[in-house]
Amino acid sequence: MTDILQQNKKSWDIVAHHFNGIDALPSYGPFCQTEEELRLFKEIKNKKVLDIGCGSGHSLLYMADKGASELWGVDLSEKQIETAKETLKDMPSQLYCAAMEKDIALPKEYFDIVYSIYAIGWTTDLATTFNLIYSYLKPGGAFIFSWDHPLYAYMQSENGQISLTGSYQEEGITTYPRFKGEEAPVVIPKRKMSTYINELIKAGFTIECVMESEVSKNFEKVEAEISDRYYSLYKARKFPTTMIIKARRA
Ligand SMILES: C[S@@+](CC[C@H](N)C(=O)[O-])C[C@H]1O[C@@H](n2cnc3c(N)ncnc32)[C@H](O)[C@@H]1O
Repeated sequence: MTDILQQNKKSWDIVAHHFNGIDALPSYGPFCQTEEELRLFKEIKNKKVLDIGCGSGHSLLYMADKGASELWGVDLSEKQIETAKETLKDMPSQLYCAAMEKDIALPKEYFDIVYSIYAIGWTTDLATTFNLIYSYLKPGGAFIFSWDHPLYAYMQSENGQISLTGSYQEEGITTYPRFKGEEAPVVIPKRKMSTYINELIKAGFTIECVMESEVSKNFEKVEAEISDRYYSLYKARKFPTTMIIKARRA
């Protein structure tokens, strides 16, 4: 395992408890429209599904509620996998503690749907990750993922004034010494929107839909106070927090 993956794994084990049931379907991300509003999955009943970066297992639980026939998940963190096992204790599931960019011999051409809610951007190797996901899908199978809108991290809010900070042009990694207020350094790759789209195309996917999130109807009546938090309703009403892409294997 690379140094970055080892570091992120250690830190995710430390912060896992902050993410129990957070960033899970039907939510696609902070303040973003939900699956109930967008209906990107269409039919879930009797489908074999694989969750990439399954976290605490709550998106898989949503899949189970909708009648998925098989529940599979992969996550880098042992702690997250332990929690996912607990979340899914009453139903058969296949959960693996592994990095999404590693080939752990999951079945090929097997899944109807592979999805990832707020995890894909952690991969240290986007091309390999997309190639693997393509290989797991049956021909015609769908891949749906959500992640921070690639420009969002550059939108800094100060006294409610939003300005651009840093350079969107420079891709690469950023190290954050603390995560969720814990001493848990993480390394997060920064990529442009076009990089995600072009790597999907290179892997062989046909892109069906690219969405830049709008605020969910659930917040329609909520007043947005001026806020400089990283995620705020105030900021989300001006700029998409989340990108969502749906692609299909040929
Ligand atoms: C915000 S959480 C995702 C929540 C989850 N999708 C859910 O439905 O509850 C991000 C997850 O990505 C996982 N992760 C980070 N890097 C990863 C990698 N390289 N491979 C697999 N999982 C990774 C983390 O352990 C964490 O559980």
